[in-house]
Amino acid sequence: MATVAEPRPVERPEIAAHPYTTGIHKPMTDELTLEELAVEGEIPHDLDGQYMRIGPNPLTAIDPAKHHWFVGDGMVHGIRISDGKALWYRNRWLRSTRVSEALGEEPIGGTRSPLSDTVNTNVIGHAGRIFGVVEAGGFPVELGPELESIEHSDFQGTLEKAFSAHPHRDPETGELHAICYLAPEMNVVRHVVVGADGKVRRAEPVAVEHGPSIHDCAITKNYVVVMDLPVTFSIEAMAAGYPFPYRWNPHHKARIGLLGREAAGDTVVWHDVDPCYVFHPANAYEREDGAVVMDVCVHDKLFHQSSRGPDDSRMSFERWMIPGDGAKVERAVIDPDPQEFPRLDERLTGKPYRYAYCTETNNAGSEFVGGNRIYKHDLEAGTRETHDFGEGRYPGEFVFVPRADGEDEGWLVGLVVNANDDSTDFVILDAADFTGDPVATVHLPHRIPPGFHGNWVDAE
Ligand SMILES: [Fe+2]
Repeated sequence: MATVAEPRPVERPEIAAHPYTTGIHKPMTDELTLEELAVEGEIPHDLDGQYMRIGPNPLTAIDPAKHHWFVGDGMVHGIRISDGKALWYRNRWLRSTRVSEALGEEPIGGTRSPLSDTVNTNVIGHAGRIFGVVEAGGFPVELGPELESIEHSDFQGTLEKAFSAHPHRDPETGELHAICYLAPEMNVVRHVVVGADGKVRRAEPVAVEHGPSIHDCAITKNYVVVMDLPVTFSIEAMAAGYPFPYRWNPHHKARIGLLGREAAGDTVVWHDVDPCYVFHPANAYEREDGAVVMDVCVHDKLFHQSSRGPDDSRMSFERWMIPGDGAKVERAVIDPDPQEFPRLDERLTGKPYRYAYCTETNNAGSEFVGGNRIYKHDLEAGTRETHDFGEGRYPGEFVFVPRADGEDEGWLVGLVVNANDDSTDFVILDAADFTGDPVATVHLPHRIPPGFHGNWVDAE
């Protein structure tokens, strides 16, 4: 394997010890370019593109008393696959102003939020470009083909305010739908639609209270689903200097809104739900009787004790039925085991579907990332398959890449941290042979700290 370390940056601070900067989470300290990667198995020749995954990797100083996992400087990792080969691996910090300064570079251009320009939560392909994305304020960062930060993007002058880390592409229209909020705006969130041309064509305000943190959403044929749950902006936490000022708020009513995809924001129909928090739905769709089904990874409570990361709250995978008429949401447990990062065959986003893929987590608070397994749920049969990577190996989110027309006919790809020898594997599984050996494993000689979300982007 050929290794090219990018020039080492100028002097930089030692990152203080914190549950999310030590152990498996210890940040990488260099930007690497690795070529001729070691591969076990055979990389399918019909895979041509790149897998990218993003997460926090602090470069600039943190206050260990107040730091939160979710606010660390963003780093993107990418692996280029083509013609049965792993051509390269690269990791790059996303250039927020503070990262550029720490690296001794001129800040990149573009539109920034005055609040924060750190982007660390998801990386997507859209309209022929690649973007790092984040919620609550930061504008997307457009990335180049080698993952270099190009500029902070307002989608060609069309994005007025904050975006989201979880836009969902409608497979029929190619448009992205997202629920977006800006941290200090306590009374409004927006349904933002980005056209297939990469420009915002709708930013419809929806009234809320208390500044809820709405991490994700779901779409169906006719609706966008708004998850207004009791984690809200905390002025007290902000005043006390916490860079992540969101807390569990027992005074905030938990409710799920159905908003017509082209309707006015004040026509949203709210449905009460038992207090809980959801980062991520797997998918949602409409039943014939008009009710909406949404499958979600549920946290009983969140940010009620810890100011460092997710709490040690009970987690499970549930199916919710949202009646559509304002009646209470009905919850049913699909799987009581803790899990997160639900994904599906996204050709079925917003439509009835059969399979959801999740990553095991644990309930041990700061170790949030602590499972060795990923799950495949057959929602029709009510069964679960498990792929166990073994002791000391920690999978992150696995992403579905289609191979043929049918649901589940494709690959599942993701990163698995190997704490046994401080390395990382990029693993390609055959989704239909979920429990079988990986089709191929690309070995990376270093540990990539656990992060958040990733996506596959086809070369074309
Ligand atoms: Fe997320």
